[in-house]
Amino acid sequence: MIIKEKIQEQIPRWMERIQRLKKEYSNFVVGEVTIEQILSGIRGVQISISDISYVDPYEGIRLRGYTISQVLSLLPKAKNSRMPLAGGLYHLLLTGELPSQKEAEEVEEIWRCRSEVPQYVWDVICSMPPETHPMTLFSQAIMALQPQSLFARAYLEGVQKSQYWEYYLEDSLNLTAKIPQIAAFIYCWKYKDGKVEPPDPNLDWSASFAQMIGKGSDWEYQELMRLYLVIHSDHEGANVSAHTSHLVSSALSDIYLSSAAGMNGLAGPLHGLANQECIRWLLNVYDHFQRLPSDEELEGYIRNQLSAGYVIPGYGHAVLRVTDPRFTAQMEFAEQFLPQDPLFQLVKQVYRLAPSILGENGKIKNPRPNVDAINGCLQYYYGVREVDFYTVLFGVSRLLGLTAHAIWARALGKPIERPKSLTTQMLEERVGII
Ligand SMILES: CC(C)(COP(=O)(O)OP(=O)(O)OC[C@H]1O[C@@H](n2cnc3c(N)ncnc32)[C@H](O)[C@@H]1OP(=O)(O)O)[C@@H](O)C(=O)NCCC(=O)NCCS
Repeated sequence: MIIKEKIQEQIPRWMERIQRLKKEYSNFVVGEVTIEQILSGIRGVQISISDISYVDPYEGIRLRGYTISQVLSLLPKAKNSRMPLAGGLYHLLLTGELPSQKEAEEVEEIWRCRSEVPQYVWDVICSMPPETHPMTLFSQAIMALQPQSLFARAYLEGVQKSQYWEYYLEDSLNLTAKIPQIAAFIYCWKYKDGKVEPPDPNLDWSASFAQMIGKGSDWEYQELMRLYLVIHSDHEGANVSAHTSHLVSSALSDIYLSSAAGMNGLAGPLHGLANQECIRWLLNVYDHFQRLPSDEELEGYIRNQLSAGYVIPGYGHAVLRVTDPRFTAQMEFAEQFLPQDPLFQLVKQVYRLAPSILGENGKIKNPRPNVDAINGCLQYYYGVREVDFYTVLFGVSRLLGLTAHAIWARALGKPIERPKSLTTQMLEERVGII
């Protein structure tokens, strides 16, 4: 397997760099932590290293050093498509190297061969109450696969620490191979008649999801999924889902346990679930006016929302200080394929008006749109209108990033994480108020 050989070959170089930092600079102070940071969610505290991706506040995400537009233009494309193969993206995340067409297709082929999901996983999903949130089903399906973990078995048998990553890699390929089918099953079981189209071996990973939910003849939706599943894959190592899965896997919990933990974080409304809030908000605006509002009407609506204490979903970001390039990539898609769609018109109108209104009181650090300000509108246009499913789509993509982080954490022998907590009294004593 090409990716395995490439990782194997790179490990000594990375180890050398880490060991040098540890040996020669272990007392170097990276930063200070203020009480404000401690009390506001350890915000901005530099706590870990991730060489898979980095969010530059003024540029956006770089995946292995490549911007979103570079990733979209440089990765090998799917057949009859202008969009990248997700297999190529996974190769890039795992090895740091842009793959050739053959290398990207190798990952796709591995996924194809390993995509079969055991019947009992479907039974687990079907045994749940139908009102269960799809993210809960998604996380449960991942957990249901855990008995198949090769790492968990190898660990019990006493495998060497230097080989942990190889089992993480195998588990990750097995899990990511099955994930489009799991998402499709959840969709069809929860919202349709429960019948899922069998995977088409001629389709790539992303298009195959589209086909399994009944969109085998919708080329545009397949293109959208190719775009969507690449741009949502990673957002550096310390956001809620990435940090959660990293923390859990640092205890040597296998990829199923740590990925499910990450997905449970993604299911929170302040993180991945925000995409469902954004589309609901747009639909509410449209319903309120029963048409596209005028600029004055929309401005008034936004101001009312803000004075009532609500946030404008899809705007603002904890790290980014510019328009999210993932938003821009989806705007370009929409301009090409659905320029007249009323909901997309509304997205553009909000984009034109909201940033200056949000910026007026100087409170919000970034009044521009994030990835969620548009992604729901695109799904909605192509008929995937079950908005509480949208975070599952995000999860399918994000598993590529989370598993890549976990494989490299084991390859570099990263230790169990154990920061320290203090009591309130200790802080009060340190600042000298008691
Ligand atoms: C993404 C988000 C959680 C980042 O939070 P953050 O890092 O605390 O953001 P800021 O530091 O800029 O927030 C400063 C103030 O601006 C407000 N603010 C931030 N985004 C806002 C928005 N979209 N609408 C209205 N007010 C907003 C905050 O509520 C905060 O007000 P407060 O001091 O009265 O509590 C926040 O911008 C938000 O809630 N956005 C809307 C939801 C969303 O789009 N989530 C998806 C994220 S990818």
